[in-house]
Amino acid sequence: ANKTYTLNTGHQIPAIGLGTWQSEPGKVKEAVLYALKAGYRLIDAAYCYGNEDEVGAGLKEAFAQGILKSRADVFVVSKVWATYTTRCELGLDKSLQSLGLDYVDLYLVHWPLLMNPAGNDDRFPKLGNGERDIIWGFNHVDCWKQMERLVASGKTRAIGVCNYSKPYLEQLLPYATIIPAVNQIENHPALPQQEIVDLCKAKGIHIMAYSPLGSTGGPLFKAEPVIKIAQKHGVKPAAVLLSYHYPRKSTVLAKSTNPERIKENLTSLIELDQEDISLLDEYSNNLVKEGKVQRYVYPPFGVKFGFPDKP
Ligand code: A2P
Repeated sequence: ANKTYTLNTGHQIPAIGLGTWQSEPGKVKEAVLYALKAGYRLIDAAYCYGNEDEVGAGLKEAFAQGILKSRADVFVVSKVWATYTTRCELGLDKSLQSLGLDYVDLYLVHWPLLMNPAGNDDRFPKLGNGERDIIWGFNHVDCWKQMERLVASGKTRAIGVCNYSKPYLEQLLPYATIIPAVNQIENHPALPQQEIVDLCKAKGIHIMAYSPLGSTGGPLFKAEPVIKIAQKHGVKPAAVLLSYHYPRKSTVLAKSTNPERIKENLTSLIELDQEDISLLDEYSNNLVKEGKVQRYVYPPFGVKFGFPDKP
């Protein structure tokens, strides 16, 4: 549970972290505090989750209770939301204020997308017809240039991206002075995204896997190989799905606000053997072959998304 990986910046990142996406308001402070007590040392937050103030309250309490002795004891991640991708430093300042921190360990571009900064909502602006208020022609390479400057500001230790597909990475990398430390993507046996993972590994970009249970767990908990492997090791299907990322050398984000599951997700991790890995890979490969792999929702929100003209 204390395993870490080394990022391309030289910083250590824990192999497992607490996810806070879709964590119900009112439950997040306790979840963060409980997770830190249980031994988690990575908290994945984001402006758009609308709960960073609660994450901050949880961290503050953990410091007060001595669960965390110093800032260096915890790895905190935040993300610049789409309404701030032309104002990355402002986005980071707002997150830092909510989190009660003077730096984050990792700041990520949440989506390579711009939503109207002057729209009718700070997070999810909509047009009069109810459609998302997206500004087209946004240049995600410009956004990355802003991100690079944030490292020099000391407000983040490392920078990275989220939800970057292969074409976006290939477009970004030639212009990057700082190679992203991380690409955070949805990743589980029903969405292996092997092309992206392989490209990232080749470029030294660490993968953080979100929604490891398949977002609700439902279908994956019932997948035959998952059940078989769980029975073999005497663990629950969730443990198999979280452990899937260890041999892949990726960081896995376990989201839960339930104290038992928060603890269980950290303590029930197992070492999958070659037979287990082959079974899960075969399951993934068959889904890919049959075209049944969960569609990678990119571009986001079902919108047509053009490449920037000139990076
Ligand atoms: P809860 O917060 O009530 O525990 P994913 O990470 O794939 O997006 O899935 C997150 C969902 O899985 C959440 O609804 C979370 O609910 C639930 N969950 C988290 N850990 C477990 C677990 N060990 N067993 C079953 N469900 C879990």
